[in-house]
Amino acid sequence: MKAEWIRATVRDIPLYYNPKVKAVRMDTSTNVLGPNPVLRSVLNDCADMDLNQYPKPYSDGLREALAEFYGLKADNFVVGNGSDEVLDIIFKTFMEAGETVVAPYPSYSLHGFFVKINGGCFMTVDLSDGFRLDPDALLKAKGKIIILCTPNNPTANSFNERDVERVVREHDGPVIVDEAYGEFADRSFMPLVDDYENLIVTRTFSKAYGMAGLRVGYMASNLAMAEQMQKIKIPYSLNRVSERAAIAALQNREYVERTVDLVRREREKLSKGLEALGMRPYPSQSNFVLFRCPVPSSEIVSRLADKGVLIRDFGRQRMLEDCARTTVGTEELNMMLLSKLKEVMEAW
Ligand SMILES: Cc1ncc(COP(=O)(O)O)c(C=O)c1O
Repeated sequence: MKAEWIRATVRDIPLYYNPKVKAVRMDTSTNVLGPNPVLRSVLNDCADMDLNQYPKPYSDGLREALAEFYGLKADNFVVGNGSDEVLDIIFKTFMEAGETVVAPYPSYSLHGFFVKINGGCFMTVDLSDGFRLDPDALLKAKGKIIILCTPNNPTANSFNERDVERVVREHDGPVIVDEAYGEFADRSFMPLVDDYENLIVTRTFSKAYGMAGLRVGYMASNLAMAEQMQKIKIPYSLNRVSERAAIAALQNREYVERTVDLVRREREKLSKGLEALGMRPYPSQSNFVLFRCPVPSSEIVSRLADKGVLIRDFGRQRMLEDCARTTVGTEELNMMLLSKLKEVMEAW
């Protein structure tokens, strides 16, 4: 194959993170309470569904359930195969090839991926000290679209809500607020979608809802923007089983509430445990903690993997030198992680 056959804008894109180790996964910020218990009965019922038929092209059932939950209209929502799909839809709808999307750095790596695979230019603006948002710099960059994620992945902090609102108010173009970890934070921008001409908020069933394997995500915006994005979505992209499971999970709050309680309680204890081992954890409003290691983080992560626990290394990225990220586990999981980390540090 000749290199020039490949579109120039995608030639240098690497494969996504795909670790081959067999270990306890504390590297993907998924739900540590196991799969959402509503799935058992939903998946049983699905065996008798007429799955020879297509789903509704725009997942109307889930959009109606979301509308009821948030007090918005079904047409405010676009649903997709994970929030990754809805991010892709946003760029396909609003970004011409060659146009620029601006995002804070460091943040979720797939934001840049979706911009690039759609032929856009991805430009980043460094977060300031304490991983704070720099609204002036984001606005001054003059991109067509601004995307930011709060709480931010991988730094785990929420951005100041006035800074985010200022970006939405002052930017003349779409602003995407990715709230994949929104359930773990104190504040959401979801209630504001009808107040702004340019605000899109994305969320997922992969984290607090414990359904990452079923791939369901959604976004909300004002009706005019949502109508345009709905046209671009691949019809039927969300399968009927996942849609049905998401509706049941949305209506059955006990597991999500238990998850959020657990995370809020355990993340403080986990951070203290990390500190006691010489790590420097950053404040978290998410279900994961980023921490700086006193020794090379790549070594810590690989030695932990040898002991059967996988966390994610970010140590090779600028501003995240020697940083690693771990999911906040159950009390038992966190104790296991800390005791293995202690062994690694003692053997250093
Ligand atoms: C910030 C952020 N946005 C979006 C996603 C994608 O989530 P989904 O599983 O809904 O595609 C993730 C997944 O880790 C994430 O961290």
